[in-house]
Amino acid sequence: MGELRVEPHLFVIFGATGDLSKRNLIPAIATLARANRLGQRHAILGVSTRPDFNDEKFRNIVEKALTDAGIDGDDMGQWCWECLHAHSVGKGRPENFESLRKKIEDVERRHELPGNRLFYLSTPPQVFAPTIMGLGEGKLNKGPGWTRLVIEKPFGHDLQSALELNALVHTYFDESQIYRIDHYLGKETVQNLFVFRFSNFIFESLWHRDRIASVDVLVAEDLGVEGRAGFYENNGALRDIMQNHATQLVSLIAMEPPSMAAPEAIRAEKIKLLHAIQRIREEDVVLGQYAAGTSRGQLVPGYLEEDGVAPDSRTDTFAAVRLRINNWRWQGVPFIVRTGKRLQRRLTQIVVTFRSAPVSFFRTMGRELAHPNALVLRLQPDEGFELGIQVKEPGDTDGLHVVPLSFSYADAFGKLPSAYETLLLDVLSGDQTLFVHAVETETAWRLFTPVLERESPVYPYAAGSWGPDEMDRLYQPGEEDPVRCKRIG
Ligand code: BG6
Repeated sequence: MGELRVEPHLFVIFGATGDLSKRNLIPAIATLARANRLGQRHAILGVSTRPDFNDEKFRNIVEKALTDAGIDGDDMGQWCWECLHAHSVGKGRPENFESLRKKIEDVERRHELPGNRLFYLSTPPQVFAPTIMGLGEGKLNKGPGWTRLVIEKPFGHDLQSALELNALVHTYFDESQIYRIDHYLGKETVQNLFVFRFSNFIFESLWHRDRIASVDVLVAEDLGVEGRAGFYENNGALRDIMQNHATQLVSLIAMEPPSMAAPEAIRAEKIKLLHAIQRIREEDVVLGQYAAGTSRGQLVPGYLEEDGVAPDSRTDTFAAVRLRINNWRWQGVPFIVRTGKRLQRRLTQIVVTFRSAPVSFFRTMGRELAHPNALVLRLQPDEGFELGIQVKEPGDTDGLHVVPLSFSYADAFGKLPSAYETLLLDVLSGDQTLFVHAVETETAWRLFTPVLERESPVYPYAAGSWGPDEMDRLYQPGEEDPVRCKRIG
């Protein structure tokens, strides 16, 4: 792929003082600026509802964010002073957006920008609607150049709210202007799922129910809620990860080949796949909540002891589902998807377990066939993949061993770009491939909203474990949980 072309633009961050902006956006923008990927002319306008927010405060925030991200502030000195501007805006009232429009025009004049504008909603989700309305009513939905709107997740909190939010956005913006972020799609390893499947025909020709026994998707974090109880109490693992990041992984691993590598063609296949997933049954769901335990060698409190969590909270910090895909390719192949906080370690991986040979030739000779072949696609950390191959143990023995044929991104390519760098460059160059379409997000909510409405039991698990024991229930006799049997990962 050639280097993406970025036109002169103004990057407006709503929620500039927030955590997401400090931890992800600012470091990504600075890294791109330092690498001259943002073009010669650009400016950044931080917007906050804080009444005392001004240029100096914003620059201080940026400098601290860069230090925290390990970026040498000296490299960025001039950039910080020349490109960064701030504006304080009241909460969602049209007259506030009138003053914002004047500020935008002023900054654009100063930097001789042609009116290309990117609005990034990095605010708490309850502020999305008033901000979108403010932009629309303040006539900022269309400008002299292109206008693009980036909306962070969570996009709605169930099907109904997602439908309403989409209807509101579409009142003012065309779908071609909208970039719904799921940062997993910006991860190199997630993008590579597409390439891995559709450019290595040896795998694609095995990629179906005749050859694959099961697929396990794991998005495990060792961190707890980390001071985000206010957000997490209203969301939980099902909404925070399952409906979006984990579902994206399932779509990419299970979709049919698109007719071409264009955004519309890829989306159409992902949506078709989501439609083929059967309604999730009650017995196919396990929810959990972490209790006190040990993480990275330290004693850590349970979820209920975290600051800001209600003492009787039923919020799920762990969610697992057995998905049944009712199409020709996957009928009968379980997709077991799980995610959780305070699990044993940070690990995002997909395990594709192939079927065993129909007759166990080696067993009859007294040697155990150790395991079926499995392909592990490790998305983070230690990005790479490995294919477990059976070999004979050398010497006078009957033993079989599984050895990995493996590939490591770090060994082959060194450091990978951050997901946000990739996604921001895509928005700035107008490529929607890695963003979530309105129908896609609604379809994913349609799948999980009945689960959310059911109030399933929430089982405790010790921090530092792999989740509640009830997880075993999702596996049927003869199926193996690759995480618990420590075969992989
Ligand atoms: C975010 C969730 O979308 O993804 C967080 O809101 C979670 O709760 C994070 O910690 C995980 O992202 P990553 O890139 O660290 O796997």
